[in-house]
Amino acid sequence: MQNNQSREGFGSRIGAILALAGSAVGLGNIWKFPYEAGTNGGAAFLFIYIGFIILIGLPVMLAEFTIGRRTQSNPFGAFKKLAPRTGWKNFGFLSIIAAILILSFYSTVAGWTLEYVIEAFKNSFHSKTTVELTEHYNSFISNPIKPVIYQIIFMCLTGVIILAGVKKGIEKYTKLMMPLLFFLIIAMCIRSVTLDGAKEGLNFLFAPDFSKITGKTILSALGQAFFSLSVGMGVVLTYASYIGKKENLVTISLQVILADTLIAILAGVAIFPAVFAFDISPDSGPGLVFLTLPNVFQHMPGGYFWGITFFILLSVAALTSSISLLEVIVAYLTEEKGMKRKKATLLTTIGITATGVLCTLSYGPLKDFTLGGNTTFEMFDFISSKILLPLGGILISIFVGWKMLKKYVYNELSNDGKYKLPMFDTFMFIIRFIAPLCILAIFINELT
Ligand code: PHE
Repeated sequence: MQNNQSREGFGSRIGAILALAGSAVGLGNIWKFPYEAGTNGGAAFLFIYIGFIILIGLPVMLAEFTIGRRTQSNPFGAFKKLAPRTGWKNFGFLSIIAAILILSFYSTVAGWTLEYVIEAFKNSFHSKTTVELTEHYNSFISNPIKPVIYQIIFMCLTGVIILAGVKKGIEKYTKLMMPLLFFLIIAMCIRSVTLDGAKEGLNFLFAPDFSKITGKTILSALGQAFFSLSVGMGVVLTYASYIGKKENLVTISLQVILADTLIAILAGVAIFPAVFAFDISPDSGPGLVFLTLPNVFQHMPGGYFWGITFFILLSVAALTSSISLLEVIVAYLTEEKGMKRKKATLLTTIGITATGVLCTLSYGPLKDFTLGGNTTFEMFDFISSKILLPLGGILISIFVGWKMLKKYVYNELSNDGKYKLPMFDTFMFIIRFIAPLCILAIFINELT
């Protein structure tokens, strides 16, 4: 194992926050959240989602922080240190499988985003109707070659950043791009809410009809909360292992969660008014953003410029998340298997590109290759977001709540008593009982 003295870490506090926010904020907020909300009834989904973020997402994030920073290790190494000679280190396998599955379908959508950058440059959306935009989208995603090429380009970009390492790679790029994305989304919200017919979209997003809630809505909201915060699979744990011992973990987690939730809501505000204004169905599924936003840009002054900028930033947001997924596997291979960073990165990038291509092609030549009616893309998404991440959440809660000494947890979160933790007992109660039982109940309800 690499010794900790030579282990690279984040260079600054703001760097750590932005890297974590960079992992959290991504396609999950801007692509997945709106379509999940759209297919699960809108506002009711939003409220349950926010409830889960606060009640379960935040405590699980703090639990991952505790394990990661205390051990300064990847998920395998962390459990090996804290619970030697037990089965806990197998959590590392869950991390790796989840990272592979998520990055596979994530890079498909990230590839679509890159193609939209090029289309925006070519001004291809100009004066197209909703029907024409839909045709364009469908013919692109079902093409057997083009989306695969974009996916390969995206995976190469991810690999190159990971190769550059934590400080010069992950930290440098996130610091630059995150604030820019935030301002652009605000500009788009302003345009969207001032469209004719915007009110219906805002009602859809904010006026809940709780009679629409089903077991599926609840599991989707839970899965989305985990997915969006990047918790439940060791990404936060791995990043936390790079955070300096002086930093206040509670403040960092609150800032990350606030940024993540805010961007998801803003994405909803940018999208739903336009969905209704341009007669797009809110339950269009994964294509929702790609059908809606080109419409919005056409109706913005300087839309050509905004369109290009937006899709570039969305690609970057995807990149700052995908690097966190790749880093989990690379950290394992370098620290546990003694592999060189270069070799580990190359191997993982190639391997995941291969599994990723299966997801991309599931919209084209492989669309009939299904299991229980689900394509590879849908299966990878379902297994990771709705099973592995919540399951990881249960395991992390049980570990920190029942297995770690309470004193250690307190010391890590309070920096040995330096910071006051007025809610510590509430946190422990949630992590011991509420989080695991609540997730279990949702599983049982939905899977039986
Ligand atoms: N949170 C990321 C997003 O919202 C996706 C992600 C999930 C990243 C799990 C890392 C781990 O886009």
